[in-house]
Amino acid sequence: MHIAVIMDGNGRWASRRHLPRSAGHRAGARAVDAVVEAAVRHGITTLTLYAFSAANWSRPAAEVSALFTLLRRHLLTQTQRCVDRSVRINVIGRRDRLPPGLCREIERSEQATAHCNRMHLRIAVDYSSQHSLLEACRRLQSEPGIDRARFAERLADVDHALAPAPEVDLLIRTGGEQRLSDFLLWECAYAELYFAEALWPDFDQQAFRHALAAYRHRERRFGRIVADTLATANHG
Ligand code: IPE
Ligand code: IPE
Ligand code: MG
Repeated sequence: MHIAVIMDGNGRWASRRHLPRSAGHRAGARAVDAVVEAAVRHGITTLTLYAFSAANWSRPAAEVSALFTLLRRHLLTQTQRCVDRSVRINVIGRRDRLPPGLCREIERSEQATAHCNRMHLRIAVDYSSQHSLLEACRRLQSEPGIDRARFAERLADVDHALAPAPEVDLLIRTGGEQRLSDFLLWECAYAELYFAEALWPDFDQQAFRHALAAYRHRERRFGRIVADTLATANHG
């Protein structure tokens, strides 16, 4: 099962406490640990977290740099925990605009966890789905015979993904907004969408369990008609 999360609401969490936005991002980083742990425990095979969108470059430079510092520190301190839990780390998105120190830390974390196979933890940084889709199309122009599998491979190359991602089963967005903000547009074609009011730093293991429970009650039809409608149609 592939779960993707748009971790939104750090800034509001901080302003409600009269704290700087960076404090909200620090609290958000703590929430990441809890959710990763819960995902491993629930047997999730792929977890993709949206940490920094390409559009987030338009925030004040100080906030952007605080986010990158946090991310770097997170990778530094969490990589060993990931090895212990057999969680493989992969940062997806552009790398050409990231600070070199962060790129080095990303490569170190990916190498250190390359043998881990319990859960695949993908962290989207400087990510824009539209950019990735366009770039994949551009690279395919010179190749004969585009098909779905080849397209997914090019998309993975563009994203620095280790392999084409399985389709997203459940997309969770915290913070109350109901939009995709340019996240995994191809991979979410048939995702179930779950919007939580909780701000990301407040999204704990129990909230994660609630999202999973809601998902289990969804009926995924993929264009088919439901089983009892089918029975009625056949007999009626
Ligand atoms: C999500 O929280 C984290 C990032 C986008 C990096 P926000 O920073 O967007 O928090 P709000 O939406 O302003 O509350
Ligand atoms: C989406 O949140 C990006 C991340 C969570 C990293 P934003 O707060 O940037 O999205 P918008 O601006 O509300 O669409
Ligand atoms: Mg936001």
